[in-house]
Amino acid sequence: MMSDRTAGDAAARSAPILALVEETIGRQLLESEQALMAELQSANAYVSDLLQHITRFRGKRLRPILLLLTAEACGGIREAHQTLAAVVEMIHLATLVHDDVLDEAETRRHVATVNARWNNETSFLFGYYLFTHAFHLASSLETTYACRVIGRATNIVCEGELSQIKERGNLELSEEAYFRIIDGKTAELTALCGLLGAHYAGADLATVEAMERYGRYLGLAFQIADDVLDLVGNERKTGKSLGSDLEKQKLTLPLIRLLNRASEAEAHEIRQLLLHPDGAARKRLAPYLERSDALTYAHERALSLAQDARQQLDRLPASRARRILADIAEFAVQRTF
Ligand code: IPE
Ligand code: IPE
Ligand code: MG
Ligand code: MG
Repeated sequence: MMSDRTAGDAAARSAPILALVEETIGRQLLESEQALMAELQSANAYVSDLLQHITRFRGKRLRPILLLLTAEACGGIREAHQTLAAVVEMIHLATLVHDDVLDEAETRRHVATVNARWNNETSFLFGYYLFTHAFHLASSLETTYACRVIGRATNIVCEGELSQIKERGNLELSEEAYFRIIDGKTAELTALCGLLGAHYAGADLATVEAMERYGRYLGLAFQIADDVLDLVGNERKTGKSLGSDLEKQKLTLPLIRLLNRASEAEAHEIRQLLLHPDGAARKRLAPYLERSDALTYAHERALSLAQDARQQLDRLPASRARRILADIAEFAVQRTF
């Protein structure tokens, strides 16, 4: 399991990455945020309140950072990239608003979720509103290419979330099925960031494909780390409700490993726990996790995917942006927030 020391080290290690990101793409990131704020304006007071609520608190901005750094590493950031960075963050926001309804989550980015502060109906409509704004903004680009690839990616993200709903309560979920789900719901969007960053920087097709793979491997590693945090992370650090995978009976990689490796008697006890989750499920599961290799195994799978992600950068010329992309792959796995 990740010790407190390792977790503290991870937080300390992410500080220099953020400083380097700021130095390398700080201005363009700010401009993309301004593009996002300009798009998300409404004269309707109810909608305006919602917009203020979700734009006031920033997340890690992983997706716009990936897109802009990829662009920088592949030939340079152009105006379209700043718009696209806003678009991918908007799509991410839309998925979070909907995801928090599905997970009945109360906290996101250290504040109340839209469903907790307003209600589920508002969240669903507001999520659609964010999706349509993302496409509205993407359509301001000269070609329809961006809308087409963004549309394809969001179709797959939604399919991933739908598969997850379908598999809820399936305690026999295989690793393969788990990877298919996270490939859709999470890695598709980070892959899109690599693709758009490289394509709009004028990179050749092989480089665009390598950067799409970089984003995909990184997204898979990022989601595995997130699934570990859902089981053993700290709500104060992550700023979001945890334990919802257990509450919603979503089997994730550490749980799949735990069940696969447990004795018949223990597997039976764990299944009972998973079938009847309550507020203490995380605590009740902890001793089983501690006795097993489940968390280490998930961490190692994530590390190996991060390594796969880093390898995709080999074809890029040496640059600071490329080095930061390599560091972000490590951050995706070691993060505690
Ligand atoms: C949360 O994404 C959803 C997952 C794919 C795990 P982030 O952890 O990137 O959320 P923010 O944007 O930093 O809040
Ligand atoms: C990520 O899954 C969902 C999306 C891709 C939107 P999670 O349900 O694990 O995300 P968090 O943990 O709530 O951020
Ligand atoms: Mg969730
Ligand atoms: Mg999660």
